[in-house]
Amino acid sequence: MISDLTIRLALETDALRIAQMSRDQIERGLGWSWTTQRVLRSIFDAETNVVVALEAGKLSGFAIMKYHDDEAHLLLLAVQPVARRKGIGAALVAWLEQAALTAGVGQVWLEARQGNVAARAFYRRLGYREIQVLPGYYQGREACVRIARDLWLEHWETDN
Ligand SMILES: CC(C)(COP(=O)(O)OP(=O)(O)OC[C@H]1O[C@@H](n2cnc3c(N)ncnc32)[C@H](O)[C@@H]1OP(=O)(O)O)[C@@H](O)C(=O)NCCC(=O)NCCS
Repeated sequence: MISDLTIRLALETDALRIAQMSRDQIERGLGWSWTTQRVLRSIFDAETNVVVALEAGKLSGFAIMKYHDDEAHLLLLAVQPVARRKGIGAALVAWLEQAALTAGVGQVWLEARQGNVAARAFYRRLGYREIQVLPGYYQGREACVRIARDLWLEHWETDN
């Protein structure tokens, strides 16, 4: 399990590492769209949270969430291969979900590559539901699965 985990907003100095993780862990085979400059724009964007997970001070994972009026879009999430299955991904998502609820945003959605069996199992475990398949979503080469969670509905159901 995680011994010494800190989750905090990303700093400018984290941008390169985050961009490299996106290239290697998420965008593999699709081209590199989340460059350092793009990550920096998200760090400075008032409607976006870029968060990092540090294990004993070392960057083990990150996530990027963009907030809209009633919904939030989880744009990117990755955990270093050596740090997986220790709850870091779940902790990053929980941090962002709490921020969404605090901001009055109740729905979270995201896209995953259809072939990303691990991510789909991960989101299922966290209470997300697959709501749509979009063929050719990734440059006409791969389908995506749109995945969503209604945090308001779950809180309402728990309270009633
Ligand atoms: C998806 C990802 C972020 C999960 O991060 P993680 O820190 O390993 O996840 P957690 O340890 O919090 O996992 C929580 C639960 O999700 C499920 N889960 C996670 N990885 C899984 C896998 N490879 N296969 C099946 N279930 C998995 C399990 O139920 C797990 O609980 P358990 O370990 O007690 O069984 C990580 O695998 C990753 O970075 N993948 C590459 C990038 C990626 O695909 N990002 C998502 C793009 S949409």
